[in-house]
Amino acid sequence: MPNRRKVFVTFPVLPSVRALIHDHCDAAFNETGRTLAFEELLARVRGREMLMITVSDRLDRASISRLPPCVRIIATYSVGHEHIDLAAARERGVTVLNTPDVLTDAVAEIGIFLLLGAARRATESISLLRNRQWSGWSPVQLPGKQLSGKNLGIVGMGRIGRAIAHRARAFGMTTHYCRQSPLASSEGVWHRTNAELLAMSQFLVLSCSSSPSTREFLDCAAVAQLPTSAVVVNVSRGDIVKDDALIGGLQSGKVGAAGLDVYKNEPQLDSRYFDLPNVFMTPHIGSSTVEAREAMARNLLEGADAIERGGAPKNRLT
Ligand code: 8YV
Repeated sequence: MPNRRKVFVTFPVLPSVRALIHDHCDAAFNETGRTLAFEELLARVRGREMLMITVSDRLDRASISRLPPCVRIIATYSVGHEHIDLAAARERGVTVLNTPDVLTDAVAEIGIFLLLGAARRATESISLLRNRQWSGWSPVQLPGKQLSGKNLGIVGMGRIGRAIAHRARAFGMTTHYCRQSPLASSEGVWHRTNAELLAMSQFLVLSCSSSPSTREFLDCAAVAQLPTSAVVVNVSRGDIVKDDALIGGLQSGKVGAAGLDVYKNEPQLDSRYFDLPNVFMTPHIGSSTVEAREAMARNLLEGADAIERGGAPKNRLT
């Protein structure tokens, strides 16, 4: 076989993704079924040029400094990259690739799914049926909230936020956002401050990346600024939410319902969420569609090929 790129993959992949990677590379995989300790990762990546990781593999400056010189590319199977010290990678001359765009539709669809599930009391409905307690329909059973005619505030108007807004408008929602400068009017109503945005967000989606400026964005003060009984959805990172603030709001009714796909300290999320009937939860499956999983692998492999040709792929971070 021609001189194929030696890759170590730290995570399990779908069979179709494994075939794609094997077609492209001389690949070895972590078959332990768990996240590797860094020392194990170091042992496995020796002699390999590309390291494919997920958000569960944290590469801080110390870790990156210990990677063998053969590692020239770190490819994260995610659009989020807060788990990698990009400055440290840049200083070592290591290229970092991520997977923007190719997972946007999948995550936007989960965003709409969570909006609907939270608004229409999916958790209570599923529980009523699966606990075999349903005694038939009633005009007063599980009244939810309608999306049509309501305001949807988007925190983080990047690719995913704009894709969610686009879909929400098809449900008859008016979309609103806050950023330094306005987008085209077709993207929604621009607000100069987050306070302005929160005050009118009958529905709120958190779709911003995790950074020092966004961590714990939804704290007690932010919850207090929401309309009473607002619906909150989080498809970004768990650390955007201060759990005490959201849980307090859900318990008091200030927040009517929440739809969550990501959690602080996941999978060891705050156990209080499990006992709240007005929380509709999914286990970080935002980009988990066959199409997105395959496209993410192709995106990383094609990015590495472009780097090899001296190109500058869109998904190059360093
Ligand atoms: C990842 C995600 O695909 O893309 C991200 O930032 O959080 C997910 O969509 C998943 O975490 C695997 O890395």
